[in-house]
Parts: sequence; C-alpha cells; structure tokens
Amino acid sequence: MTMRMRFKERLVQKFDEEVRFFKGWQKDRKGVGAVIPTSSVTARRMASVVDHKSGLPVLELGAGTGVITKAILERGLEPGNIVSVEFARHFYDDLLSRYPGVDFRNGDAFDLHTTLGERRDDLFDCVISAVPLLSFPMEKRVALIEDLLSRVPAGRPVVQITYGPLSPVCAMCERYTISHFDFVLRNIPPAQLWIYSRPG
Ligand SMILES: C[S@@+](CC[C@H](N)C(=O)[O-])C[C@H]1O[C@@H](n2cnc3c(N)ncnc32)[C@H](O)[C@@H]1O
Repeated sequence: MTMRMRFKERLVQKFDEEVRFFKGWQKDRKGVGAVIPTSSVTARRMASVVDHKSGLPVLELGAGTGVITKAILERGLEPGNIVSVEFARHFYDDLLSRYPGVDFRNGDAFDLHTTLGERRDDLFDCVISAVPLLSFPMEKRVALIEDLLSRVPAGRPVVQITYGPLSPVCAMCERYTISHFDFVLRNIPPAQLWIYSRPG
C-alpha cells in the first residue's frame, strides 16, 4: 500500500470515528459530554503518566471510541493490562472489536465495585479518566476521585480531562492533592488536564 493510500485510509477511519462519536453525543449529550473525540495529542499527554514498568494494570474510564485506549496501548502495555470502563453499550460493542484483548467493562464508573466484578480489588498503576465529571453533582465527583485514589498506590495519579477553567473536583486538602497537569490547545474544545493524588 502506498503512503498516499495509507493516509487516505487513516482519514476515512478518523472521519468514521468522529461520526460514531457525534451520533453517541446525539443519543446522550450529558453522558458523552463532547461532540468529537479527544485529540490524539491530548490522549498521548494523558497516557504519558502510565508507568509501564510498574507491572500493574491501568484503569481507563469513559473510553468512548477508544482514542485514549489507543494512546495507552502505545505506551507498551499488554492489552489485558488495560481495564477500560464504558457506560454506553454502542461504544462498548465497537471497542470490543477495535481493541481486541483490552479488558473492556460495560458499566458505570461511579459503581466500580459492580463494574469491575472479579477485578474489583485490583491495584492499578494509575487511572485515566474522560468521564464528563461536570455532568454530575460535586458529591458524586468527590466520591469518584476518592474511590479511584483507593485503587492506585499513594503518589500515583488519577488524570482527568475537562473543558472548564477550574478543577472539576473541589479541594479536600487533607484527603488528596490537586495539580494542574496541562492545557492542550490542540483539542476541540481546548482541554484542561488535572491530576489527583494521595500523598506518597
Ligand atoms: C467526553 S467522552 C470521552 C470519550 C473518549 N475517551 C475520548 O476521549 O474521546 C466521555 C465518555 O464517558 C462515557 N461515560 C459517561 N458517563 C459514564 C459513566 N458513569 N461510566 C462510564 N463511562 C461513562 C461516555 O459514554 C463517553 O464515552
């Protein structure tokens, strides 16, 4: 296959992904929370926190069409070492065929005890989340972050993407720390990345 044909194929795939994502947004605007998928630049930045030498699996939340899953795989993890939660059945069904071997779970990130099933007690290297937190009340957001932090070693990050200027989770100084990780202009809309962690 020539370079030109490969480029054309990639464009067609990207367009197809954007259409599937947009249709998902039309079905559930609040639940999907964005009109097009996260850019590959942002996805790679989020996945850059993965420590593939830790030997621990990575937990992804809100996989959508899988752009961040792809970036995590590119960090060198075995597919089975990625546990990825997606609430929408139509996204989940597509993810199974697009990223074989990744441990996708069709369920609610706010109820990981149920969603993770037999892996509910696993310790993860880090969490990479694209769940649209601003669509949920603050108590639920704080409870989610605290739940996620109990699933990673102290000092390891929970990375969250959002589009507002402020952290989508309020400060709880004695319980976790919040740091601004990045602002990525090459994303529609421009993305803010936040890291939550427990003192190491
Ligand atoms: C902003 S999209 C991000 C999709 C993809 N990761 C990306 O970056 O392009 C948010 C995703 O989170 C999923 N989602 C929303 N609420 C969820 C929940 N409670 N549990 C798991 N996934 C959820 C949506 O279905 C959607 O796929």
